[in-house]
Amino acid sequence: MTVQLREIPKPRVLGGSLAQRVLLRLLERWVTIGVLHVRLPGGEERRFGGHAPGPSVRLDVLSDDLFRRLARSWKMGLGEAYAVGDWRTDDLPGFCELLFRNVESARRSPGLERWMRLQRSRPHLPASNTMRRARGHIRYHYDLGNDLYRLFLDESMTYSCAVWEHAGETLERAQQNKLRRICEKLQLGPDDHVLEIGCGWGSFAIHAASTTGCRVTGVTISQEQHALATERVRAAGLSDRVEILFQDYRTLQGTFSKVASIEMFEAIGLKQYPTYFRTIDRLLAPNGLACVQTIAMPDHRFDRYRRTEDWIQRYIFPGSLLPSLGAITQAMTRSSELHVHDLEEIGVNYADTLREWRVRFLARLDEVRALGYDERFVRIWEFYLASCEAAFRTRSIRDVHLVLTRSFNDALPPSLGSVAGPAA
Ligand SMILES: C[S@@+](CC[C@H](N)C(=O)[O-])C[C@H]1O[C@@H](n2cnc3c(N)ncnc32)[C@H](O)[C@@H]1O
Repeated sequence: MTVQLREIPKPRVLGGSLAQRVLLRLLERWVTIGVLHVRLPGGEERRFGGHAPGPSVRLDVLSDDLFRRLARSWKMGLGEAYAVGDWRTDDLPGFCELLFRNVESARRSPGLERWMRLQRSRPHLPASNTMRRARGHIRYHYDLGNDLYRLFLDESMTYSCAVWEHAGETLERAQQNKLRRICEKLQLGPDDHVLEIGCGWGSFAIHAASTTGCRVTGVTISQEQHALATERVRAAGLSDRVEILFQDYRTLQGTFSKVASIEMFEAIGLKQYPTYFRTIDRLLAPNGLACVQTIAMPDHRFDRYRRTEDWIQRYIFPGSLLPSLGAITQAMTRSSELHVHDLEEIGVNYADTLREWRVRFLARLDEVRALGYDERFVRIWEFYLASCEAAFRTRSIRDVHLVLTRSFNDALPPSLGSVAGPAA
C-alpha cells in the first residue's frame, strides 16, 4: 500500500461528560423510530425509542473517548470513534438506519429546523478540483490497490450501483444488467464510438464493445485502474475496439457519437459542474446521446450538505460532492445545450450492492490484512460500506440514470420518450 491515509485526530481532553449527558438527552428526546439498547462503559444499560417500528439494535460504548470525540466534532466523532474501536454494535447498517430515520424525523422539530436554516446560509467557498488536485484525490481512493478491490467487487470489477431485475440474482448478474441497460439507453450499435468518462477497471467498455460491437475510448485518472483495465481489454481480445487512456476528461479532443459516465460525476466538485457539461457538449456529435449515472442528494438538503465536509469526504472520497438534480440541471443549462431526456431512479439497488460488497469484504479480512491493511482501515471501510447502505436503504440519498441530449435530435431512439402514434 503506497497511499498515506488520513490520521484520526485524538479525542478532546475535556467535555466528555457534558457530551455524554447531551447525547443521552438527545437519544431520549429524538429516538422514536426503532429501539436502541445502549450499554455504557460502566455497565449501565439504557433503552431508547420503541414508539414506531424500525430497526432494533445494540450499541456497546467501550470507551468514554466516544463522548470526547463527539465533543470535538458531532459530525466526524461517531465514525472516528468506530474506526478506533470506541463502540460496537450488533448491526452496523441497522444502527445507521435507525440514526438516519430518527435524525430525519427530529429535523422537523422547531429547534432543529432553525439550526438547519442557519447551516444553509453558512459562508462557504467550494474547493477547486484542479487536474493535479483531482489526481491526488483519486489516488487516495483508487490506488489503494487493485488487489484490494478484487477482494470485494464482482468479477467484472464494476464499482457502482448494480440493478437487480429478478429476485435472487447474483451481484455479478446485477452488474451486467446495469451495464446492459446503459447500452440500451444509448442505443449502442457497431457504428458507435463511445466516450466513457471515468471508466474504472473497464467493465462498461468491455461489456459495450463485446455485446454491441461499438468502439469505446475510456478515461481514468487512476494509474492502477489504467494498468488493469488495459490488461483486461487485451485479455478480452478487444484491443482493436477499446482504448483506455490515463487522462483527465477535461483535456480530451475529438467527436464521439455517445458518452457514458458511470458514477464519476461525484468526484468533480461543484466548481467543475459547468466544465463537465461543457466538455460533453463539446465532444458529443450533433445527434448524440449521453448517459450519466450519478448518486444524488435530494435538493432540499443540498445547500446545507455542500457547505461542510462530511465523514465520507474526509476519510473515503476526498474532494467528492454528491450533486442534487437541481444543481445538475442548473449547471447543464448554463454551460451547454444539453437537457435531461430520460431519468430512472435506481438508488434502492445501491443498498443491496453495498451490502454485497461489505459481506464479501468482511469474509476476506485475512486477505485484506495480508495486503498490509490494519484494523483501523478495516473498521473505516466497514463504516463506509454500512453507512452508505443505510443511506440508500432509507432513500436518504439517490442514484439515477440521466439520458442527456440536445433538442432537434431526429435520431432519438423510439423507446425513450416517443409513443407509437395514433392510428392512421
Ligand atoms: C466510482 S469510479 C466508477 C468506475 C466505473 N465507471 C464503474 O462503474 O465501475 C469513478 C471513476 O471516475 C474516474 N475519474 C474521476 N475524476 C476523473 C477525471 N477528472 N477524469 C477522468 N476520470 C476521472 C476515476 O478515475 C474512476 O475511474
